[in-house]
Amino acid sequence: MLIRRFRLSDLPRVLRIERMSFGPDAYSASTFLAHVFRDRRGLFLAEDERGEVLGYAMARLGLGWIGVRRGGITSIAVHPAQRRKGIGRALMERALAHLREHHVEEADLEVNVANGAAQSLYESFGFRRSRLLPDYYGARRDGIRMVLDLRAPLVNERGPETRADV
Ligand SMILES: CC(C)(COP(=O)(O)OP(=O)(O)OC[C@H]1O[C@@H](n2cnc3c(N)ncnc32)[C@H](O)[C@@H]1OP(=O)(O)O)[C@@H](O)C(=O)NCCC(=O)NCCS
Repeated sequence: MLIRRFRLSDLPRVLRIERMSFGPDAYSASTFLAHVFRDRRGLFLAEDERGEVLGYAMARLGLGWIGVRRGGITSIAVHPAQRRKGIGRALMERALAHLREHHVEEADLEVNVANGAAQSLYESFGFRRSRLLPDYYGARRDGIRMVLDLRAPLVNERGPETRADV
């Protein structure tokens, strides 16, 4: 498996994974592209030896309280047929490394309260719950904000054998 940066020609395959992963909540092509153009270098893909896209992770850089550089994970998804093989973990590692390379001290993200798989993944990196976000994903669909102090060493940096070209 290779982790590499997104290229525009990847868009159709990434959107397919997006739709399979999030259904009606999936980003549209235009929303996805808006994220890409805001920070293309924060978007990472996992691909197999044949060049098939297996998943993606999108990191964001932002401004926080004075003196603290903030950033976060906007989205992550792995092809449903490729889950539980360490791909999500490898993508998270790369996305968090990107934030660290940009001197981000605290990372945050939002996750659906019902999404136990994603919460387990984030917790395995040391993310902790910071607050409940009522109706964040729509009526009676609460979210949770999770935060990670990036100044400390990551608690869980492992995954399948990966090559990185970024
Ligand atoms: C969340 C997601 C990206 C995880 O990707 P993945 O490649 O399957 O994850 P990994 O195989 O790297 O798993 C890493 C860890 O995440 C946790 N995890 C992943 N899937 C899990 C599941 N179904 N149940 C419980 N924990 C899970 C485990 O802690 C796992 O470590 P382990 O395998 O040593 O137990 C994937 O399930 C997905 O694409 N879901 C749909 C999209 C989504 O919900 N994205 C998050 C939006 S906030």
